Amino acid sequence: MKCLSCGYETPIDQHTILCPKCGGLLEIIIEPPKGFSLSKLKGRGVWRYKDLIPGYYKSIISINEGNTPLIKSANINKQLYFKFEGLNPTGSFKDRGMTVAVSSAVSLNYKTVIAASTGNTAASAAAYAARAGIKSFIVLPKGKVALGKLAQSVLYGAIILEVDGSFDVAMEAVMRLYRDLKIVYPLNSFNPWRLEGQKTIAFEIMEDIGVPENVIVPVGNAGNIYAIWKGFNELLKIGIIDKVPRMIGVQAEGASPIANAIIKGKNEPDFIENPDTVATAIRIGRPVNWQKAMKAIKESKGTAIIVSDSEILEAQKTLARKEGIGAEPASAAALAGYLKAINNGIIDKDEKTVLILTGHSLKDPESMAKADTKRILVNPLHIEKIIVGEINGFNS
Ligand code: F0G
Repeated sequence: MKCLSCGYETPIDQHTILCPKCGGLLEIIIEPPKGFSLSKLKGRGVWRYKDLIPGYYKSIISINEGNTPLIKSANINKQLYFKFEGLNPTGSFKDRGMTVAVSSAVSLNYKTVIAASTGNTAASAAAYAARAGIKSFIVLPKGKVALGKLAQSVLYGAIILEVDGSFDVAMEAVMRLYRDLKIVYPLNSFNPWRLEGQKTIAFEIMEDIGVPENVIVPVGNAGNIYAIWKGFNELLKIGIIDKVPRMIGVQAEGASPIANAIIKGKNEPDFIENPDTVATAIRIGRPVNWQKAMKAIKESKGTAIIVSDSEILEAQKTLARKEGIGAEPASAAALAGYLKAINNGIIDKDEKTVLILTGHSLKDPESMAKADTKRILVNPLHIEKIIVGEINGFNS
């Protein structure tokens, strides 16, 4: 494991989460396993790739996460694919990381886990902790979590701690608790073991279509874009692929510290005190993993794109109405970013591109209901009149 801040190196050890020397972020660097071959892989989902996931696991806490469909676009662009992570057990990509992190927690004999969250990490942490029979605390920004996600955490029985402030305040509280006390196991993505599960998104894409030109990822706390890049990079080191896709991060206008830094050619982001966007999942001003995300974007010769809230909601509708895919606003940001990148000449429409649709639309019923459609109070005896009128365009 190598520290991104001070360069300290330490052997891979599941007990280690932050740099023992300076408290910085650690990268887990694995040696390509000898004799690794795709044809020997067994099973489906995250643990199909267990030979590439380091660590010792006393028991595996799994709810059959991963193995999500890579759906080819039917009506937007034939070279476009959607990796629909909304079809994970709790409806987001977080489950891939949670199976590894909660299995680690159990193997290390932790009885309690904690996570700060904009909602999806919380739902996933609560579910996997429940499955493991351990207690979960989740720290949420009060009033800023989409209803479906909050309701999931309630259902799975997490203890919910709400802070008056943004996700960044909640995150800082969890980090301080972990640094000072170490009594609870942290399930946020500063824990590099979680990203070991999330990197399997890359493995699945590669098994489905090989290496695309571009992978577009909505960026919040900034772990996932790095995890996916890491997955491709490991395949490159093993010699299974001969190039890594360009990693393109998308952030919302009101919460875009990393995209701003990339676009302006800066080496460090300027953090944002009061982030704001309809895409509450990525409403983050101080992304913990900014160093990792910027590394993934730069080393893959990728870039970042900023989209507005109205572009996000429009993209959410387009995805639903042109492709039949329901994704939450943060995920739709990937499509908004793709359309912008094509318009700006950053991506050519003939380039094979994968959008990571990180979470299901059902997570956020309020955002779905904002889309315009006709709702007509009908007399059931006269319903045919309305239908005929609609078909013939008389009612508009
Ligand atoms: N999309 C969705 C639906 C998310 O929930 C998140 C992050 C992201 C994208 C961004 O991923 O943080 O790895 O850059 N949600 C976290 C949470 C912050 O608490 O659920 P990232």
